[in-house]
Amino acid sequence: MRVWFAVVGLSLLALRPSAAQTPSEAYQKGCANCHRSESAVLRRIPGRDDAGRRAWIEAFMAQHPCERDDLKELIVEYLLERSRP
Ligand code: HEC
Repeated sequence: MRVWFAVVGLSLLALRPSAAQTPSEAYQKGCANCHRSESAVLRRIPGRDDAGRRAWIEAFMAQHPCERDDLKELIVEYLLERSRP
């Protein structure tokens, strides 16, 4: 029984890196081909509270290219986190 749990646990751990992307990887994949440096991007985000910055980022990204549409939600999280004052 213990062995069985260990095997299931290990295979879940092994699956995680490929399934889950970190917010930083999401930015690299969706934006970094055009924005190698993120500092210019972060400077443009108006520094209000989280809700205000999130609204600005989402409105901006809605009309801006992104190379990975499936990662947009994570990219918003990344920019929100990195632009926190
Ligand atoms: C296909 C290339 C391309 C991709 C992909 C791209 N951008 Fe841009 N982005 C540009 C260009 C070109 C400009 C400059 C536009 C200008 O200055 O008129 C720009 C400008 C910006 C600006 C304004 C600040 C500045 O540097 O002028 C922000 C913020 C921004 N991009 C965020 C993002 C984010 C976030 C992503 C990923 C979701 C992203 N971009 C993906 C090409 C791209």
